[in-house]
Amino acid sequence: MFHLLFACVCLSSTHQSPITANAFASLSTTLPLAKHGHIFYPSALHSSNVIPDSKESLDTNPSTKFGSPLSDSVKDLNRFAIGFLKGNLFDNIFSGEDRAYARFYALETIARVPYFSYLSVLHLYETLGKWRKAKYLKLHFAESWNEMHHLLIMEELGGNERFSDRFVAQHVAFGYFALVCFLYVVNPVEAYNLNQEVEQHAFATYDEYLKENAEMLKTKPAPKTAIDYYIEGDMYMFDEFQTECEMRRPEIKNLYDVFVAIRDDEMAHVKTMERLQTELDYSSINDGECLVPDSQN
Ligand SMILES: [Fe+2]
Ligand SMILES: [Fe+2]
Repeated sequence: MFHLLFACVCLSSTHQSPITANAFASLSTTLPLAKHGHIFYPSALHSSNVIPDSKESLDTNPSTKFGSPLSDSVKDLNRFAIGFLKGNLFDNIFSGEDRAYARFYALETIARVPYFSYLSVLHLYETLGKWRKAKYLKLHFAESWNEMHHLLIMEELGGNERFSDRFVAQHVAFGYFALVCFLYVVNPVEAYNLNQEVEQHAFATYDEYLKENAEMLKTKPAPKTAIDYYIEGDMYMFDEFQTECEMRRPEIKNLYDVFVAIRDDEMAHVKTMERLQTELDYSSINDGECLVPDSQN
C-alpha cells in the first residue's frame, strides 16, 4: 500500500511535464535537447557552462529552474497520501498512551530521511559536474542535523527500547530514502512538496501531544541532548535551517519546553520546504542578509 500510493503520487507529479522523460537522458544530452526543442528540463541537470537563452533568462518563475511546478491536484494527492499513511498505518502501529516516545522515535527516524536523499542527489550532480548549489547542501545538512537531535532526544527518552519499533522505523526509512532520491531526481518540487506534508504532520503531532500532556511534561526535566543542542551548543547550525530570517532561541527549562522547541523546528522545516518550491534562493541569519534587531544579536 505504501509503495502503491507513492507510485501514484510520483506518476501524477511527473505526468504534467516532459521533465520525467528527459531527466535521465538529459544527464548526457542536455544541451542538444535544450537547443533543438522547447523541451523543459531542470537547471539541476545543466552543465555549468551552458549559456542560458534569452527566454530562459526572462523566466522568473524559480520552480521552472529546478523542477517542475505542481498542479493543485498533485498537491492534494500528496496531502491525501501522507495523511492516509499516517492516520491509517503509522498511528495504529504506535497507538497507546505509553507509546508516545516510541511514536516520536519512529517519526524522527523516518521523517529526517528526505534530507539525506536531497544531499545524496545533489552530491551526485556535483560529481557529474552538472549542478553547483552549495547553499542547498548546507541548508539540507543543517535540517538533517536538527532532525538528528530530535531523534537523539527521543532515544534518550527511551523511544527506541523495543526491537520491533527500531525494526519497523529503520526499514521504512531505508525504502523511503530510495523513493525520495528518485522523486528528487525526477522533480525536486514534488519531493519538497511531499516533505512539506510530512513536516506539517510532524508539527501537528507534536502540537497535539503538547496540548494533551502539558502539565505532565512541565514536571519532567529536559534531556541532556536537548540542553546541549538548544542552549549550550554551537547555534550556527541551528540558525542555518531558519530560512525566514528568524532568530530563534528556545528556552529550555523542562521537557515541555523541549517539545515546544521540536514542534517549532518542524514548522521551520514546513516553511523551508514550501519556500523551495517557488524560490531558488533563500537567506539565513549567517549569510548577513537578514535584518536582525540588535537585541537579538
Ligand atoms: Fe523532527
Ligand atoms: Fe521534521
